[in-house]
Amino acid sequence: MIQIAPSILTADFGHLKDEIQRITDGGCDQIHVDVMDGHFVPNMAMGPTMVKNLRSCTDLPLDVHLMIETPEALIPAFAKAGADTITVHWEACPQIHHTISLIKSLGLRAGCALNPGTPISFLEPILRDLDLVLLMTVNPGFGGQKFIPYSLEKIRQLRRLLDEKGLETDLEVDGGINRDTCEAAAAAGANILVMGSVIYDGKDPEGNMRALRKLVDSIR
Ligand code: DX5
Ligand code: ZN
Repeated sequence: MIQIAPSILTADFGHLKDEIQRITDGGCDQIHVDVMDGHFVPNMAMGPTMVKNLRSCTDLPLDVHLMIETPEALIPAFAKAGADTITVHWEACPQIHHTISLIKSLGLRAGCALNPGTPISFLEPILRDLDLVLLMTVNPGFGGQKFIPYSLEKIRQLRRLLDEKGLETDLEVDGGINRDTCEAAAAAGANILVMGSVIYDGKDPEGNMRALRKLVDSIR
């Protein structure tokens, strides 16, 4: 089954509990939390307190995507706040093996994200240690961007590599995933789809989520 992880980046934070309820009623599988530090990416968003608030309003898994430099300093705080999965960027972690081990030592699922310009081969040495690989299908920092077409080849390449190694690592895609791109991303091998602006478009998150659930469930 293909999972949908709505990104709450463009949700109405003044009504967070209602916003979470709407996508839950619409049938999402987990909540994707985008954390930005204004250095690794040119934008800022969310910290451990937000994760703690989210934890108090949902039992769904919290999928925390750290787009920050030196994530090691904050990983324990995000773990304590109630994250289920923590994903760090390969580009932000000179000692990626150490960082992944830290996440796992706290009892969480560990993910590694790659920017569009970072090759899949860089992940090979640590692939067995990962619960999840997140492929950025836009340059990280903002919701509402356009899916980068060459990402499809990267998804296929990673799917092949995971299959060859017999690994059941989750393959998550993030950025520009919508009604037009979700099918191709899933067909290329993604099993978790992050969707932000297509759900939180300021109108009807529950209806959007419901329609996307139906669409994604019809893929395979
Ligand atoms: C981008 C974030 C994404 C993004 C998804 O830096 O990691 O999670 O907000 O939003 P859409 O679906 O609008 O691209
Ligand atoms: Zn994200």
